[in-house]
Amino acid sequence: MSFEHINKSFGNVELYKDFSIDFEENKINIIEGASGCGKTTLLRMIAGLEKDNQGKRIAKTDSISIVFQTPTLLPWKTVADNIRFVLPFPDERLVKNILRLLELSEVADCYPYQLSGGMQQRVALARAFAYPSDLLIMDEPFIGLDTPLKKRIFRQMIRMWRHYPKTVILVTHHREELTAMAHRIVTIGSRPVRILNTTERNKVVE
Ligand SMILES: Nc1ncnc2c1ncn2[C@@H]1O[C@H](COP(=O)(O)OP(=O)(O)OP(=O)(O)O)[C@@H](O)[C@H]1O
Ligand SMILES: [Mg+2]
Repeated sequence: MSFEHINKSFGNVELYKDFSIDFEENKINIIEGASGCGKTTLLRMIAGLEKDNQGKRIAKTDSISIVFQTPTLLPWKTVADNIRFVLPFPDERLVKNILRLLELSEVADCYPYQLSGGMQQRVALARAFAYPSDLLIMDEPFIGLDTPLKKRIFRQMIRMWRHYPKTVILVTHHREELTAMAHRIVTIGSRPVRILNTTERNKVVE
C-alpha cells in the first residue's frame, strides 16, 4: 500500500513535502519518529480524516479500524458487547475466539470501568480486529503502559494478526523494544518529514 508525493502544510509550516511511503500489505508496519514530527497527521491522511494541500483524499481504502491512544469503549456495554457492536452480522464464535486470543475471556461480562487501562486497550484492540477491515491503524496505542505489558499486548496482537490478517500500521514516538517485532519499521525525521531508515523482516515472532 503506497502513498506518493504527499504535500501537507499547516499555515507556513511544511510538514510533508513530496513525501512518499509504502507499507507491506497484510503485514505489521511500524512508523517511528520524534514527538511532533507529523505522525498523527500522516495517519489521519491515510485514514481519510485529513486531506492533503490540494484538498485531495489520499486514503486507499474505507475499510479501516482505528485504535487511538486512549481506549474509546462504550461505557454502557460489556466487553463482549463492545466487540459484538462492530460486527456486521452476529458471530459468537468470532467474539469468543478473539476474547480468548487477547486473554479477555474472564472479563467478557465486565464493564470498561471495571478494567485496568491496559485491559481496556486490549478490548479496543480486540474490537479493531473483530471489525472486518482491510487496514488497522494504531496511533501510539500503548502509551502509558510499562514495557513488559506493551510487549505482552504486542505479542497478543501478532497472534490476532495470524488468525485475522490485515495491514497494520502502528505509530510510536520513540524506539521501543517492540519495534523489533514488526515486519517493517520506518524511522522518520522532520522537517519536512523524510525517511531516515527502513528495516525489513520476513517473519514476526510472538
Ligand atoms: N490541525 C492542525 N492545525 C495546525 N497545526 C497542526 C494541526 N495538526 C497538527 N499540527 C502541527 O503539525 C505538527 C505535527 O503534528 P502531529 O500531531 O502530526 O505530530 P506527531 O508526530 O503525531 O506528534 P506526537 O508524537 O506528539 O503525537 C505539530 O507541530 C502540530 O502542531
Ligand atoms: Mg501523534
